[in-house]
Amino acid sequence: AMNQSSIKTAVIGHPIAHSKSPKIHNYWIEKYGLYGTYTAIDIPPKNLKQAIQSLIDQGYKGFNVTVPHKIEIMALCDEIDDLAQKIGAVNTVNIQDGKLHGSNTDAYGFIQNIKENTKNWRFKDGGAVVLGAGGAANAVIYALLKEGVPSITITNRTREKAEALVKLSSDKINVIDWDDRNAAFSDANLIVNTTALGMVNKPPLDVDISDTPASALVTDIVYAPLMTDLLCQAKDNNLQIVTGIGMLLHQARPGFKLWNGVLPDVTDDLVKLILK
Ligand code: ATR
Repeated sequence: AMNQSSIKTAVIGHPIAHSKSPKIHNYWIEKYGLYGTYTAIDIPPKNLKQAIQSLIDQGYKGFNVTVPHKIEIMALCDEIDDLAQKIGAVNTVNIQDGKLHGSNTDAYGFIQNIKENTKNWRFKDGGAVVLGAGGAANAVIYALLKEGVPSITITNRTREKAEALVKLSSDKINVIDWDDRNAAFSDANLIVNTTALGMVNKPPLDVDISDTPASALVTDIVYAPLMTDLLCQAKDNNLQIVTGIGMLLHQARPGFKLWNGVLPDVTDDLVKLILK
C-alpha cells in the first residue's frame, strides 16, 4: 500500500563515502523484494549523540557502525549483548521502542567466511597465528576461541597490545615479538592478518611464511587488493587461502536479518558487485 512505510537502515561513520555497506544491503533489499532503504550517513564524532537521537526520531530500524564510532556508540546503547561487550565494540544496532540494542557481528563474519570457503580444514586441528592486536584482532581472537582453536600465537609491533589480549584465554594464548614473527608459522594451522598492512596505500606486510605446514589455511582481513601479498605468498606455497571480502559480506548478514527479517546469502554475484 502507498502508506506502507519502508524500513529505514543505515551505516554511520566518518568518513563514510567509501563504505561498501550500502551496496551490500541495497543488493539484498532488491534481491529479496523488500521495501527498505539503507544509506551512508557521515557523522563527525562530536555530533554522535544528537545524530543518533535524530535517527531514532526519524524511525530508523537500526544501523551499522564503523570507524570511528564502534566504541563511542557503546555509551549510547541501552543494551549491549555479551559478545559485543567482550569484544569491546559495537558494529550493529537494532532500535526497538526508541531503545538501542548493540551487537558485534565481526566474529560471526570472520567464522562464516572461513567455514563457507574451506575444504577439509578445521579450526580444532591446530594452532593459529594472529598478526596484529588492534580492534579487528580482538574479534578474530574471540571467534577463534569460540571455534575451539587449541592455541593462539599473537604477534604485534607494539608487544603490550598483544599482551593485553592474553587475558581472553591465558592458557591458550601466547605472544611473540614482532621481530620474531617468521618463526611462528612452522606449526600453524591458520595464519590471519588482522593488521592494515598490505592494504592499498599502506605499507606492505613483511612476512616469510615458507615454513608453514601444507595443511594450513591463510586468510587476510584486508580485501583491497583482494589478493594481498600474504595471500599470493600462500598460493605460491600451495596453501589453502580465504580472501577478506567474505568477512565484510558475512558480517553484514545478522544486521540485515534483524531489520528485514531475512537472513541473506553471500553469492558470487554479490562478491562480483562489491569488488567492481
Ligand atoms: P583496527 O582496530 O582496525 O585493527 P588498529 O587498532 O589501528 O586498527 O590496528 C592496526 C594494527 O596494524 C595494529 O596491530 C598495528 O600495530 P600497533 O599495535 O603496533 O600499532 C598494526 N600496524 C599498523 N601499522 C603497522 C606497521 N607499519 N608495522 C607493523 N604493524 C602495524
